[in-house]
Amino acid sequence: MAGQIPTQFIDDLLTRVDIVDVIDARVPLKKAGKNLHACCPFHNEKTPSFTVSPDKQFYHCFGCGAHGTAIGFLMEYDQMSFPEAIQELADQVGMSVPTTKSLSPAPATQNLYDLLDKVSQYYVHQLQTHPQREVFVDYLKQRGLSAATIEKFDIGMAPDGWDNVLRTFGTTDLARKQLNEAGLLSSNDKGRTYDRFRNRIMFPIRDRRGRVIGFGGRVLDDGTPKYLNSPETAVFHKGHELYGLFQARKANRKLERIVIVEGYMDVIALAEHGVTNAVATLGTATTPDHLRLVLRSTPEVVFCFDGDRAGREAAWRAAENALPLLGGNHQLKFMFLAEGEDPDSLVREQGAAAFNTLVEQAKNYSDFFFDTLESQVDIASMDGRARLVEIAKPYLRHVPAGVYRDMLEQRLAEKAQTNVALLNKHLDRPITVEHKTKQKAGSISTATSPVRMAITILLQHPVLYTAVGEFDKIATLDRPGIKILSTMLETLQLNPHLNTAALLERSRGSEHSEHLQRLVQESLPLTAEQLKPELVGIVQQLQQQATEQRKAYLEQKHPSQLTDEEKEEIRNN
Ligand code: UTP
Ligand code: MN
Repeated sequence: MAGQIPTQFIDDLLTRVDIVDVIDARVPLKKAGKNLHACCPFHNEKTPSFTVSPDKQFYHCFGCGAHGTAIGFLMEYDQMSFPEAIQELADQVGMSVPTTKSLSPAPATQNLYDLLDKVSQYYVHQLQTHPQREVFVDYLKQRGLSAATIEKFDIGMAPDGWDNVLRTFGTTDLARKQLNEAGLLSSNDKGRTYDRFRNRIMFPIRDRRGRVIGFGGRVLDDGTPKYLNSPETAVFHKGHELYGLFQARKANRKLERIVIVEGYMDVIALAEHGVTNAVATLGTATTPDHLRLVLRSTPEVVFCFDGDRAGREAAWRAAENALPLLGGNHQLKFMFLAEGEDPDSLVREQGAAAFNTLVEQAKNYSDFFFDTLESQVDIASMDGRARLVEIAKPYLRHVPAGVYRDMLEQRLAEKAQTNVALLNKHLDRPITVEHKTKQKAGSISTATSPVRMAITILLQHPVLYTAVGEFDKIATLDRPGIKILSTMLETLQLNPHLNTAALLERSRGSEHSEHLQRLVQESLPLTAEQLKPELVGIVQQLQQQATEQRKAYLEQKHPSQLTDEEKEEIRNN
């Protein structure tokens, strides 16, 4: 996406804009040392953990983990697209965004939103007027839904037939193309195109802001698939969206807690009975993105699952995905329903009070975590306890360093009948030597290698680049992160005035992006001046190692195998 706006422009923009002004205009900031802070706009809190750094031009919330540049802030807070955020910032500092022809994703997505909204209204209208509406209305009645709830969730119907939507909305080639981009059409292998949703109850899926981004459609009988969902489109990403979040936020000025359930009908049936704080994933496991999204609206999340085996497994997957978000001032809990029960059936048979009681009794994250792991070992034996440590270890490594992780470690030590010091010996604490093993992409490393340290220093203090000596050989070293470091040095060689935010924006959309966002938040205890020799030393050492490695490689070659260039290289070294 960034490719469409010249990178140079974004660099310039980010040196002219001040993130403090951008945020302060929306969320009043207070001075706190060399940073500024406020209560986080992305989650509920009473004491400020949302911090803005003028030096790094970066914001970060210690509570919910939200973070980013001025561009990222506008995208999150004002829900702008990337080009919209750029435009907004440029307007503010009086720069004009260079327009290239391809720079039109903003209007294009706007068209999709408009179309999806119109189609949603069409489905609602069909439920009110279509000659065959009776059977749909009866179905909803039989599931216990009132007219008010049907309206609150804008439930509609896709009439039977192959081309109702296609005929109504696809009057031009462009319109048909947009219907397709909105995920509303299907086609067979003969190339025939038709309505994706036919003869189904329609549930529009809205984003946090309330824009329709897709649909789920349920059959009336026991046909398959029971629910048909919109495919991934430019505006619909299953792993990022939660059904019902918009309605939950609308129904509650302050959400003290959100319950994550499994199905559309669970959310709706709960709302029908006055439980207005439930949301559902869209047929997928809860992802870290889901959790970040929901933690912006509430401090407490309760996962609700079936009590059967599948439910327990889904809960464990959610627990694994939650590891990077543990700690901070939010709480995660788990509740389980009796086998065969779902929130819909429970609330209809036993009422809201029965459901709420179960919510109140939900298990804490740590209890669920240890109970699950303990059930896999024989805790009474020493061997079992050693095994517990072994299986818990890889999970704990994904928990952000802090009080919560300390407490989990403490608890693990107690259960294993050892002590934290002994335990930590085996927990792969931060170490200063390089890991030789390749890290899985996206895995969380707590080890501070020299390369990682150099990247962190450079990212937080790009001005220090000017002190760095030669680095042209370091990319040949086989070290995790070396590519990132050498690319960053090259970037600064060409653009020595880039600031932290500009470096981060250059990584937007790349596989390193998340990693860099984490490094920028790492707290370096020293000043830039004190860090300078550290950075210079690391790069120097890497360059030297690379040189020696190259020399050794050339020396083991037979002189007759050397190219002219290689001979030249040996002479010069
Ligand atoms: P369930 O099968 O538990 O459905 O799927 P449910 O919500 O209880 O449905 P009702 O009560 O029979 O109407 C839970 C969720 O999984 C996704 C949907 O998001 C559904 O709400 N799902 C399920 C699908 O996407 N496709 C399917 O075919 C089935
Ligand atoms: Mn159900």
